[in-house]
Amino acid sequence: MHNFSRPFNIESLMVTDEIQADLEAIERNVVLYEEASFDSRVEALDYLEFHILDRIEGLLQAPNSATGLLSLQQRAENVKRRLGAIDAVLFQRLRADIRTDRFRGTSLLALVTSCIGRGANGKQAQQEVGYDTLDVFTNNLFPDLAFPSETQEREPEMVFYQKTPARVIFELVEKAQFTTTDVLYDLGSGLGHVPILVNLLSGVTAKGIEVEPAYCAYASACAADLNLPLVTFIQTDARTADYSDGTVFFLYTPFEGRMLQEVLERLRTEAQHRSIRLFTYGPCTLHLAQQGWLRCVDPTAMDLYKLAEFRSFH
Ligand SMILES: C[S@@+](CC[C@H](N)C(=O)[O-])C[C@H]1O[C@@H](n2cnc3c(N)ncnc32)[C@H](O)[C@@H]1O
Repeated sequence: MHNFSRPFNIESLMVTDEIQADLEAIERNVVLYEEASFDSRVEALDYLEFHILDRIEGLLQAPNSATGLLSLQQRAENVKRRLGAIDAVLFQRLRADIRTDRFRGTSLLALVTSCIGRGANGKQAQQEVGYDTLDVFTNNLFPDLAFPSETQEREPEMVFYQKTPARVIFELVEKAQFTTTDVLYDLGSGLGHVPILVNLLSGVTAKGIEVEPAYCAYASACAADLNLPLVTFIQTDARTADYSDGTVFFLYTPFEGRMLQEVLERLRTEAQHRSIRLFTYGPCTLHLAQQGWLRCVDPTAMDLYKLAEFRSFH
């Protein structure tokens, strides 16, 4: 029951009623409790966190907050737990299926399409730049390991860790059309999302080159946990890595300036023995566009925050 003996609480009472109505709508929405409604659940969990629980927290800070807020808070926490538990079961099963090789390529794509209404190319992405529901989905496929802290200081031209948006990785797989003879390298592989997802989606051999030992150890632990023998992570500087078996290279702007040019010179040497393909995302795309030995597959579509494809030519 609301306490009407404190008139200055009227505004807070109205907000409380609004929150209660919002919460009831989520509690009663049976679709949210169906496993396949992943995208609606992501939205509902987001709403619960930022429009219900945060607002309740704010109201509880006020000196004469409306009575009943605490029980509303408890109800919201309960719904959050129930919805989170559905995802926990779903992803536990998917990870078990990945480990036994039952959840790869087309079955992964089919599930993504059914769970978040999106095909491999991410054309229905909600935003052009930034992360979306596909990232929430793919993050959940990864084992729940503690996020590692950097252990060594980065050189000024080394870019800090930032994950490639998942839709860009899906697009990479679609555009690359990997064959069994391909070997993908992710230069500056961070926590390993690119090689792991590319391998899951296409089956191709995928290697990550990462200078930070803690990131490399984390990525290796993920690949081992998911039982992905064709995914390996090599802790080394991209300037000195061995690329002799690489055919496709992915760069989400891992380094800049002279360091980037030095690595590109290494790849140019590789391209003298065989043709290679490079896919880029972010500002490094402009740098690659200036290399005389590379041809951009679609120069008209060049955009820093779109996947760009380059091919070597002699
Ligand atoms: C923008 S993040 C990209 C992460 C990863 N490709 C992904 O999409 O999830 C850049 C990564 O490159 C790594 N890095 C920077 N300089 C490097 C170098 N010289 N050799 C290897 N890795 C490097 C950083 O530690 C960081 O993890």
